[in-house]
Amino acid sequence: MQIIHSVQEMIEQARRWRNERRSVALVPTMGFLHEGHLSLARLAREEAGVVVMSIFVNPAQFGPHEDFASYPRDWERDLRLAENCGVDCLFAPCAAEMYPEGYGTFVEVGELGKYLCGASRPGHFRGVATVVCKLFNIVQPKIAVFGQKDGQQAAILQKMTEDLNLPVIIRKAPIVREADGLAMSSRNIRLSAEERRQAACLFQALLLGKRLIEAGERD
Ligand code: PAF
Repeated sequence: MQIIHSVQEMIEQARRWRNERRSVALVPTMGFLHEGHLSLARLAREEAGVVVMSIFVNPAQFGPHEDFASYPRDWERDLRLAENCGVDCLFAPCAAEMYPEGYGTFVEVGELGKYLCGASRPGHFRGVATVVCKLFNIVQPKIAVFGQKDGQQAAILQKMTEDLNLPVIIRKAPIVREADGLAMSSRNIRLSAEERRQAACLFQALLLGKRLIEAGERD
């Protein structure tokens, strides 16, 4: 597995793949990989000759009082997991590579970014859209794979791709869950035992609601 930290080197490698007519699938992540990320990489593997996974904890999508500093990171483990699941190239730039001194251009998302997560995390989707747009320009993938776990994010990135005429096909992969139904997420590790127990109730409640509706409940 090739490891690239420099933006320029990634651009040059992407150019070589294009010249060789190899199709590239990109799996953007913030690392601390789990089975959900690996399922995205496997889907990418089925669809393209080269699988690039990016690992970049993107400061632009964290608010000033959010968990950028404490976001879980484990580079050695990520390397092992990515390699074992068939990733060809890991692109892991540092913040100064992606946002050099004087950086000033951002992608504003419209209506879709105003609700749900966008309402409680102002600027979050602007940061996500900006970094994903940059990753698309650097890696030039044919396909990019995102998880349905972040459904609003996937919808916003699909819209960004259409609005900006980016020649990338967005694939959305199903949610991967823990045995008790909690959607896998890097941040789950930071839940206390009690929070972890409560979190599983979300999916159980949704399932119960679904069963009741299917049985005719309309109240
Ligand atoms: O879903 C994530 O992990 C991030 O929001 C993404 C898409 C990698 C952009 O930083």
